[in-house]
Order: sequence, then C-alpha cells, then structure tokens
Amino acid sequence: MRARHCMIVLLLGCNITFSLGFLDVVVAVASYVFDKLFKTDGLLPFNRTRLQADFDKSLYGQHIVSDVVPKSVSFFMTDKNPNKPLVLSFHGTAGTGKNHVAKIIARNVYKKGEKSKHVHTFISQFHFPHQENVHMYSAQLKQWIHGNVSSFPRSMFIFDEMDKMHPELIDIIKPFLDYNYNVDGVSFHTAIFIFLSNAGGNVIVDLALDFWRKGKSREELRMNSSKLETKISKDIFNGNSGFLHSSLIDHHLIDHFVPFLPLELKHVRQCVLAEMEHLEIPKNDDLADKVAQDMPYFPDEERIFAVKGCKSVRQKLVMHADE
Ligand SMILES: Nc1ncnc2c1ncn2[C@@H]1O[C@H](COP(=O)(O)OP(=O)(O)OP(=O)(O)O)[C@@H](O)[C@H]1O
Ligand SMILES: [Mg+2]
Repeated sequence: MRARHCMIVLLLGCNITFSLGFLDVVVAVASYVFDKLFKTDGLLPFNRTRLQADFDKSLYGQHIVSDVVPKSVSFFMTDKNPNKPLVLSFHGTAGTGKNHVAKIIARNVYKKGEKSKHVHTFISQFHFPHQENVHMYSAQLKQWIHGNVSSFPRSMFIFDEMDKMHPELIDIIKPFLDYNYNVDGVSFHTAIFIFLSNAGGNVIVDLALDFWRKGKSREELRMNSSKLETKISKDIFNGNSGFLHSSLIDHHLIDHFVPFLPLELKHVRQCVLAEMEHLEIPKNDDLADKVAQDMPYFPDEERIFAVKGCKSVRQKLVMHADE
C-alpha cells in the first residue's frame, strides 16, 4: 500500500509538466501494473453485514438460502477455533442459483473472489471423466486438498455435479470433513467445502408445488417444513447418485443440506433486470416482462416454476433486445 501511495504521489508531482489527461493515463497504467505485481490474493476482512447485504441484493426467490447460508458462513468465519470445516450441500433444480451463491460466498471471503487461487472448483464430469482413472484421480485430489490447505488453511473447495461424482472420490474427501482430522500436523478445520447438485431437486419442487396448490405463501417454506432437510438427505441417500455408495451422509459430516426453490416468473424477471444492468442495456420493464414470459414454465397447466430457472436469461435478453 505504501509503495503504491508513493508512486501515486510521485506521479501527481509530475503534474506541473504533464497535462491532466496524460497524467490520468499514467496513473491508471501504474495502478494496473502495481495490482498485477503486488496485489495479494488473500482474505478480505470478514464482514457479516456486507455478506448478508450481498445476499439480499443479489439472490432472488431463495429466502431459505438467504437465511441459512450467510448465518452459517458468518458463524464459521468468526469462530476462532472451529472443530470441523464448514460443509454445505446445495440442492435444487437447474438455474436456481447454486453456483451463483458459491460465488457470492467467495467474493465475501477472498479479495479476488471466485478468481482467487484459494478457490478450487471441481466439476465431476470435466475433471474426473474416466471411470478407469478413478484411483489416479483419488490420489491427485487427496494430494491437492492436503497441499492447498497446508499452504493456505482458509481454502475453499467447490464440487459441482456432486451427484455424478464417483463414490470413491467422495470417500477421499470424507476424512477432510471430519472432526479432529489432522494429517502431518495439518488441520482442515478452517477450510470450506461446498457441494452442488440437482439431487433432491424433485423433493423440493414437490413441496413448493404442494404449498402453492394449498394457497400457502412460498415464504412460509422453511428448512424444517415437512422435514425438508431430512427429506433431501434421504432422497440423495436413496437416489441413484454418487452419494448413495459413499459414506458421506451417514457420517453426518454435512452441516446443512440447503434447498434452492424453483424460481417463479417474478424472480426470472428480476434476473432479466439484473442482466440488463450488467449488459448496460437501459432499464426496460416491458422488455423484462417479455423475456421472462418467453421462458418455459412447469407444470404444463399452471406454469408456475421456470424450467431452467434463471439460466440462459442473458441469451434470451440479447435476442429480444435486438428486435
Ligand atoms: N436465485 C437467483 N437469484 C439471482 N440470480 C440467479 C438466481 N438463480 C440463478 N441466477 C442467475 O442465473 C445464472 C445461472 O445460475 P446458476 O449457475 O447459479 O444455477 P445452478 O443452480 O448452479 O444450476 P445447475 O443446477 O443447472 O448447475 C447465475 O449466474 C445467475 O446470474
Ligand atoms: Mg450449477
């Protein structure tokens, strides 16, 4: 910071000879070079208010997630001596915000957010595609987690498509999630593990649909409504997924099974407006209605929930904006 400050002061001193426009460019270039060379890729000072505000502003239609996730992350980040890593498992149908929430957490924990080298994302079918190589993947994954946590204890590991992950790989992760696990003096208690999957999505949809048909408000849905969390864990345990054969669930190492509700038209509309802002398209409510209505909804008769959630909203918007 000091070096950067000095550089800017020095450059400002040149103001006598340089025009302001030129100086601006020099400062911008110097600042860019400084950031590239010296900006550390560390932790942000943790701020629970900022985290909650980010959820409130950036996540639509997920009141359970907006309640459970910031609370558990905040509790964990401010716990001076956690007895196990934070382990969250996100469940829900397509485009409901699972990756989006992992990114929100990352940008509130690391200076470089999801781009931080301390955020490690694995996508089952991309990183571990061949069944016959599973032993090799297991050894590499074990080494990768151990190596990274030993050099940076507050590392974050995101496993996408967890339901398609080979059980042997899930079992490799398991000891890292456990209480009092310690290898060669390395403790994993301050690491964060996030699992993403569509497993359990149908249980969540059925309950949301049931609430809707009974005329109950969506916001009345809670983690413990009709034992939702237990139902999700049972569903993924009994379902045909990698979780089934792994010993992750029966060892109770997952702190929360977090349900992502299917999104309604009004939430998709909010996503369209957010994309407009992102793409610097002037705000247009009629266009937002048009794009949101153009997305597919289910069940066929009632058309309540968006089939793809907010996925491909940007692509739809671009098509309509050009008309
Ligand atoms: N609830 C939401 N609130 C705000 N934006 C959302 C929400 N859900 C999805 N989005 C937007 O849609 C994009 C796609 O969502 P995301 O990738 O998080 O879905 P997903 O739940 O991981 O789906 P999948 O199961 O298909 O991988 C996000 O990048 C985000 O812009
Ligand atoms: Mg996803």
